[in-house]
Amino acid sequence: MGPELLEVLERRGLDFDLPVTATGVWRLAECFPGARQVVLEIGSGMGEATVQMARSQPTVGLVAVEVHLRGVAATIRAADRAGLTNLRIHRGDAVAALRDQVPAAGLAGIRIWFPDPWPKLRHHKRRLLRSDFVSLAVSRLAIGGTIHCATDVTDYAEVMIAV
Ligand SMILES: C[S@@+](CC[C@H](N)C(=O)[O-])C[C@H]1O[C@@H](n2cnc3c(N)ncnc32)[C@H](O)[C@@H]1O
Repeated sequence: MGPELLEVLERRGLDFDLPVTATGVWRLAECFPGARQVVLEIGSGMGEATVQMARSQPTVGLVAVEVHLRGVAATIRAADRAGLTNLRIHRGDAVAALRDQVPAAGLAGIRIWFPDPWPKLRHHKRRLLRSDFVSLAVSRLAIGGTIHCATDVTDYAEVMIAV
Protein backbone atom coordinates (compact mmCIF):
# COMPACT_ATOMS: atom_id res chain seq x y z
CA MET A 1 0.00 0.00 0.00
CA GLY A 2 1.37 3.44 -0.95
CA PRO A 3 2.20 6.23 1.51
CA GLU A 4 -0.88 8.27 0.54
CA LEU A 5 -3.28 5.46 1.48
CA LEU A 6 -1.39 4.80 4.71
CA GLU A 7 -1.59 8.48 5.58
CA VAL A 8 -5.36 8.67 5.04
CA LEU A 9 -5.87 5.45 6.98
CA GLU A 10 -3.98 6.89 9.92
CA ARG A 11 -5.62 10.31 9.73
CA ARG A 12 -9.25 9.32 9.07
CA GLY A 13 -9.52 5.57 9.80
CA LEU A 14 -11.03 5.93 13.27
CA ASP A 15 -13.68 8.35 12.01
CA PHE A 16 -15.13 5.59 9.84
CA ASP A 17 -15.06 2.96 12.59
CA LEU A 18 -18.25 1.64 14.20
CA PRO A 19 -18.74 2.03 17.95
CA VAL A 20 -19.80 -1.20 19.68
CA THR A 21 -21.76 -2.29 22.74
CA ALA A 22 -20.11 -4.23 25.58
CA THR A 23 -20.86 -7.44 23.65
CA GLY A 24 -19.37 -6.13 20.42
CA VAL A 25 -22.59 -5.29 18.56
CA TRP A 26 -22.48 -2.20 16.37
CA ARG A 27 -24.30 0.86 17.74
CA LEU A 28 -25.91 1.76 14.43
CA ALA A 29 -28.21 4.47 15.80
CA GLU A 30 -25.16 6.24 17.22
CA CYS A 31 -23.33 6.05 13.89
CA PHE A 32 -26.18 7.50 11.87
CA PRO A 33 -28.35 9.64 14.14
CA GLY A 34 -30.39 11.26 11.35
CA ALA A 35 -30.63 8.25 9.06
CA ARG A 36 -33.97 6.77 8.08
CA GLN A 37 -32.40 3.42 7.16
CA VAL A 38 -29.14 1.54 7.56
CA VAL A 39 -27.83 -0.56 4.67
CA LEU A 40 -24.85 -2.94 4.72
CA GLU A 41 -22.64 -3.41 1.68
CA ILE A 42 -20.62 -6.63 1.61
CA GLY A 43 -17.35 -6.73 -0.32
CA SER A 44 -17.05 -3.04 -1.12
CA GLY A 45 -13.74 -3.49 -2.95
CA MET A 46 -12.06 -0.17 -3.72
CA GLY A 47 -15.24 1.68 -2.76
CA GLU A 48 -16.16 3.36 -6.05
CA ALA A 49 -19.82 2.28 -5.93
CA THR A 50 -19.88 2.63 -2.13
CA VAL A 51 -19.01 6.30 -2.20
CA GLN A 52 -21.45 7.01 -5.02
CA MET A 53 -24.25 5.26 -3.10
CA ALA A 54 -23.50 7.15 0.11
CA ARG A 55 -23.39 10.43 -1.78
CA SER A 56 -26.62 9.83 -3.68
CA GLN A 57 -28.56 8.65 -0.59
CA PRO A 58 -27.65 11.07 2.21
CA THR A 59 -30.53 9.93 4.46
CA VAL A 60 -29.31 6.32 4.36
CA GLY A 61 -26.55 5.17 6.72
CA LEU A 62 -24.21 2.88 4.82
CA VAL A 63 -21.86 0.36 6.41
CA ALA A 64 -19.28 -1.10 4.04
CA VAL A 65 -17.50 -4.34 4.93
CA GLU A 66 -14.36 -5.37 3.11
CA VAL A 67 -11.59 -7.81 4.01
CA HIS A 68 -8.74 -6.17 2.12
CA LEU A 69 -7.02 -3.27 3.83
CA ARG A 70 -6.06 -1.58 0.57
CA GLY A 71 -9.72 -1.45 -0.47
CA VAL A 72 -10.71 -0.12 2.95
CA ALA A 73 -8.04 2.59 2.72
CA ALA A 74 -9.05 3.57 -0.83
CA THR A 75 -12.69 3.80 0.29
CA ILE A 76 -11.76 6.00 3.24
CA ARG A 77 -9.73 8.24 0.95
CA ALA A 78 -12.65 8.63 -1.48
CA ALA A 79 -15.12 9.22 1.37
CA ASP A 80 -12.76 11.77 2.93
CA ARG A 81 -12.49 13.65 -0.35
CA ALA A 82 -16.29 13.58 -0.78
CA GLY A 83 -16.85 14.80 2.81
CA LEU A 84 -19.25 11.93 3.56
CA THR A 85 -20.76 11.58 7.02
CA ASN A 86 -23.23 8.75 6.32
CA LEU A 87 -20.65 6.03 5.68
CA ARG A 88 -18.85 3.69 8.07
CA ILE A 89 -16.31 1.09 7.03
CA HIS A 90 -15.48 -2.19 8.73
CA ARG A 91 -12.44 -4.23 7.78
CA GLY A 92 -13.14 -7.91 8.23
CA ASP A 93 -15.17 -10.91 7.19
CA ALA A 94 -18.76 -9.97 6.47
CA VAL A 95 -20.10 -13.33 7.61
CA ALA A 96 -18.54 -12.89 11.06
CA ALA A 97 -19.72 -9.28 11.15
CA LEU A 98 -23.30 -10.27 10.28
CA ARG A 99 -23.23 -13.01 12.90
CA ASP A 100 -21.58 -11.11 15.75
CA GLN A 101 -21.87 -7.39 15.14
CA VAL A 102 -25.05 -6.55 13.26
CA PRO A 103 -28.08 -6.28 15.55
CA ALA A 104 -31.04 -8.54 14.74
CA ALA A 105 -33.43 -6.77 12.35
CA GLY A 106 -30.99 -3.85 12.30
CA LEU A 107 -30.75 -3.40 8.53
CA ALA A 108 -33.09 -2.15 5.82
CA GLY A 109 -30.94 -3.73 3.15
CA ILE A 110 -27.87 -5.72 2.27
CA ARG A 111 -26.01 -5.09 -1.00
CA ILE A 112 -23.63 -7.60 -2.48
CA TRP A 113 -22.37 -6.40 -5.80
CA PHE A 114 -20.15 -8.60 -7.91
CA PRO A 115 -19.05 -11.01 -5.17
CA ASP A 116 -15.98 -13.11 -5.96
CA PRO A 117 -17.30 -15.55 -8.60
CA TRP A 118 -15.07 -18.56 -7.85
CA PRO A 119 -15.74 -19.93 -11.37
CA LYS A 120 -14.19 -23.38 -10.94
CA LEU A 121 -16.67 -26.02 -9.83
CA ARG A 122 -14.41 -27.26 -7.04
CA HIS A 123 -14.29 -23.70 -5.63
CA HIS A 124 -18.05 -23.10 -5.64
CA LYS A 125 -18.18 -23.91 -1.93
CA ARG A 126 -16.19 -20.70 -1.33
CA ARG A 127 -18.93 -18.54 -2.82
CA LEU A 128 -20.58 -16.16 -0.40
CA LEU A 129 -24.17 -16.65 -1.60
CA ARG A 130 -25.29 -19.96 -0.11
CA SER A 131 -28.47 -20.82 1.72
CA ASP A 132 -26.85 -20.74 5.18
CA PHE A 133 -25.50 -17.26 4.44
CA VAL A 134 -28.90 -16.08 3.21
CA SER A 135 -30.59 -17.35 6.40
CA LEU A 136 -28.10 -15.38 8.48
CA ALA A 137 -28.51 -12.29 6.31
CA VAL A 138 -32.32 -12.43 6.48
CA SER A 139 -32.16 -12.61 10.29
CA ARG A 140 -30.44 -9.22 10.30
CA LEU A 141 -33.05 -7.53 8.08
CA ALA A 142 -35.98 -5.52 9.33
CA ILE A 143 -39.42 -6.48 7.98
CA GLY A 144 -39.56 -5.49 4.31
CA GLY A 145 -35.78 -5.45 4.02
CA THR A 146 -34.04 -6.44 0.82
CA ILE A 147 -30.94 -8.30 -0.27
CA HIS A 148 -29.69 -6.78 -3.50
CA CYS A 149 -27.12 -8.85 -5.41
CA ALA A 150 -25.39 -8.34 -8.73
CA THR A 151 -23.14 -10.60 -10.73
CA ASP A 152 -22.05 -11.00 -14.32
CA VAL A 153 -21.61 -14.76 -13.91
CA THR A 154 -24.70 -16.55 -15.21
CA ASP A 155 -24.56 -19.67 -13.08
CA TYR A 156 -23.87 -17.63 -9.94
CA ALA A 157 -26.91 -15.46 -10.74
CA GLU A 158 -29.00 -18.64 -10.92
CA VAL A 159 -27.65 -19.74 -7.53
CA MET A 160 -28.42 -16.30 -6.07
CA ILE A 161 -32.01 -16.51 -7.22
CA ALA A 162 -32.37 -20.09 -5.96
CA VAL A 163 -31.01 -19.46 -2.46
C1 LIG B 1 -15.05 -9.10 -7.07
S1 LIG B 1 -14.82 -7.92 -5.78
C2 LIG B 1 -16.16 -6.77 -6.05
C3 LIG B 1 -15.91 -5.46 -5.37
C4 LIG B 1 -17.03 -4.42 -5.53
N1 LIG B 1 -18.29 -4.86 -4.97
C5 LIG B 1 -17.20 -4.06 -6.99
O1 LIG B 1 -18.25 -4.36 -7.56
O2 LIG B 1 -16.26 -3.48 -7.56
C6 LIG B 1 -15.35 -8.82 -4.34
C7 LIG B 1 -14.90 -8.17 -3.05
O3 LIG B 1 -15.46 -8.86 -1.95
C8 LIG B 1 -14.48 -8.93 -0.93
N2 LIG B 1 -14.87 -10.05 -0.06
C9 LIG B 1 -14.89 -11.36 -0.39
N3 LIG B 1 -15.35 -12.10 0.63
C10 LIG B 1 -15.61 -11.24 1.63
C11 LIG B 1 -16.09 -11.40 2.96
N4 LIG B 1 -16.40 -12.61 3.44
N5 LIG B 1 -16.24 -10.30 3.71
C12 LIG B 1 -15.94 -9.07 3.22
N6 LIG B 1 -15.48 -8.85 1.98
C13 LIG B 1 -15.31 -9.92 1.19
C14 LIG B 1 -13.18 -9.11 -1.68
O4 LIG B 1 -12.08 -8.75 -0.91
C15 LIG B 1 -13.39 -8.19 -2.87
O5 LIG B 1 -12.94 -6.89 -2.62
